Amino acid sequence: MEPPDRPACGGRLESLLAQPFGDLQPLWAEEAEVLWRTLHWQVEPWKGPMGGLAWVGDGKVLGCLPLCVRGPTAMLGRLFASRWGPTEGVEAGLLSAALHGVFSDPRIQRVSGEFLGAAPRTLEWLVSLWPGQVQPRLLMEVAWTGAGETRTGGLLEPWQGEHLIPAAGLLRRAHGEGPRVFFDPALEDDGGTARLLERIITCPLCGTFEPGASFAARAPESGDLLGFILATRMGTDRGHVAEVAVDPAAQGRGIGKTLITRALEALRGLGCRATHLAVDGDNRKAIRLYRSLGFREYHRFPALRLVRGGEIHPSPGSPGGAKA
Ligand SMILES: CC(C)(COP(=O)(O)OP(=O)(O)OC[C@H]1O[C@@H](n2cnc3c(N)ncnc32)[C@H](O)[C@@H]1OP(=O)(O)O)[C@@H](O)C(=O)NCCC(=O)NCCS
Repeated sequence: MEPPDRPACGGRLESLLAQPFGDLQPLWAEEAEVLWRTLHWQVEPWKGPMGGLAWVGDGKVLGCLPLCVRGPTAMLGRLFASRWGPTEGVEAGLLSAALHGVFSDPRIQRVSGEFLGAAPRTLEWLVSLWPGQVQPRLLMEVAWTGAGETRTGGLLEPWQGEHLIPAAGLLRRAHGEGPRVFFDPALEDDGGTARLLERIITCPLCGTFEPGASFAARAPESGDLLGFILATRMGTDRGHVAEVAVDPAAQGRGIGKTLITRALEALRGLGCRATHLAVDGDNRKAIRLYRSLGFREYHRFPALRLVRGGEIHPSPGSPGGAKA
């Protein structure tokens, strides 16, 4: 696998860490404004120092790409380039430089990154370079109006702290050997997965946690956790499904549909005019379920999943293809 060539574009690469915090504020404020205006997506401003790359031109930070390494995995963060500059050129320059750097370190075996704020042409550019290793992620949204049909309503209870540990194990089982687990070191074990879920609840990473619209489904006899949904809120009137999963042994029985329907009803009751979520473009089962509930795709953005040597994961036809 060859990293892409650097495109011609004015400016230079610098370390993100070396940028004075105040110089980054205008870019991050612009990112927040663009994502909210175009996608109804609320991002938290960065609060502390961040490793990665910055693109600097005319004395301004024109773009940034946070990067961190955990074990053999390099994770690229929120890629964003100012809409006032040569946006696509800066994004491509940051990505190609990051990939050159990452793959020159022999310890790094894989790279992942989701680029919600990337310009639409960056997705096309990446797909043309690595068809099969760039996964479009879909943003889907519904303006929920009806109660819908649910057949397992009695199973649900409000989300509580005691659900966290079983939910972590369930989430890993639900994703199996699929790429989400392979490319996210946080999901490597139940402890890391529990910390990830805790962060959704305690930090506004992906919206502000909405306990009144988050539920767990338990088996009536054993009390075992069968599924859960964590809902958040972005702004005052947008709901968001941050996580939903059903134990593989309990899938296909309407539990996922019931969890989502109850969350949508609760979010609407809390003043949300619409609710959105992000899903991998090839998670056909989840997408079919969302469509059946009225969700419509309104945006696509690239998720990069590269393996040294260029193998595609999971290999075609392998089981466990569930994606978040
Ligand atoms: C996506 C996911 C949450 C769906 O959960 P689920 O409980 O299997 O979903 P449901 O049973 O409600 O719906 C799935 C199917 O069962 C059908 N169904 C609904 N009620 C049913 C019932 N009582 N009996 C039988 N089938 C039923 C649904 O119509 C749907 O049919 P379809 O596959 O033809 O569209 C689950 O597959 C999962 O955990 N996947 C892995 C994690 C993941 O991808 N999460 C989403 C991230 S965005």
